[in-house]
Amino acid sequence: MATTITLTSKREGAAVTGRSDGSLKGLVLSGGKGSRLRPFTYTNAKQLVPIANKPVIFYTIEQLVDAGITDIGIVVGDTGEQVAAAIGDGSQFGATTTFIRQDAPLGIAHAVATARDFLGDSPFVLYLGDNVVMGGIQSYVERFRANGSCSQILLHPVPNPEAFGIAEMSGERVTRIVEKPRKPASNLAVVGIYMFDRGVHDVIEGLSPSWRGELEITDAIQGLLDRGLTVDAEVMDRYWIDTGKMDDMLNANRMVLGAMEPRCDGSIDEKSRIHAPVVIESGATVEDSVLRGPLIIGRDTAIVNSYIGPNSSIDARCRIVGCRIEDSIVMEDSRLEHLHWPVAKSMIGRFVELQGGHSAGGVYSLTLGDHSRIEMPDG
Ligand code: DAU
Repeated sequence: MATTITLTSKREGAAVTGRSDGSLKGLVLSGGKGSRLRPFTYTNAKQLVPIANKPVIFYTIEQLVDAGITDIGIVVGDTGEQVAAAIGDGSQFGATTTFIRQDAPLGIAHAVATARDFLGDSPFVLYLGDNVVMGGIQSYVERFRANGSCSQILLHPVPNPEAFGIAEMSGERVTRIVEKPRKPASNLAVVGIYMFDRGVHDVIEGLSPSWRGELEITDAIQGLLDRGLTVDAEVMDRYWIDTGKMDDMLNANRMVLGAMEPRCDGSIDEKSRIHAPVVIESGATVEDSVLRGPLIIGRDTAIVNSYIGPNSSIDARCRIVGCRIEDSIVMEDSRLEHLHWPVAKSMIGRFVELQGGHSAGGVYSLTLGDHSRIEMPDG
């Protein structure tokens, strides 16, 4: 069950900002540097790295639309063109998109300030484009719509609180929000989904950069508390992950694959054996192979004489011949042939060519960016 916590400052009972009548807008952040996901982020936006063959940021947009939010601003940085090309005008999601350029990644609150013209006086849901939540955000958004508070945040216990914004608690009450504390007072991380009314803009205008040189959204929330405004917080009861690092990506991939409905829109020959649940997309072919789900094989990909094991995503237009792959993400247009050792816990970029030899023993654990090329002759 989700727990509901109300955040109040010492000035309890002080004025609450008025909620604009406008309908909720969405603001998705897709800027930032993505330094923890190199080498993939040298050539692509981190929010476009695929989970179960779909860019992470697509889940974010879909969940906003499912929650009834279709007017969506997307803050972009240096990789803006790629992000805009992938998302387009939003019609593929049933939404309207507005791309907003942030000249430098000066913080999440800075990104909100950059989007001020788009947001106007509307209340909005701010969703970090690298956060993945299973089961959507509808119930949280409904609650925000209903309760009229000036902000609502979501919390989730984490094993490494020094890497997140952390809520300090006094019993069931949150007393303070601190960004990446050295000595965390709790393990409750602030999830990258925030709901605000227009009152947050006044607070952001008065913020100064933090020790890491950013305008922090956590400081904005603390500012709301300091003004005696009501901020609701809820401990999330569903799977959430910040996909900042490769391990997080593989974890999110496992979770999403595990929840997919099996289907086959491609073709599987009679020599192959399939252990469900698997998703085979249109134009994909499977020949003389074993597939053990949960997994997904992308459009126009060929799997020949291979074993594809649990928790694997092989994206569109790949060619996999004579390989054993499990627990891995293989991105579009890559070619893996005759790898004698299994590939596990790996992320392989786009247009990678990996040509194997025949020596026995071992396992490959690989992080290969786009256009990598490796030949492994017999040992
Ligand atoms: O994932 C939850 C955490 O997200 C919260 O617990 C933290 O309080 C919050 O500060 C944030 O921490 P991160 O260090 O993970 O944020 P990161 O720099 O990775 O940025 C999050 C997303 O926002 C990412 O998709 C990039 C985008 N972004 C970030 C900055 C700093 C922008 O679009 N513009 C920016 O200026």
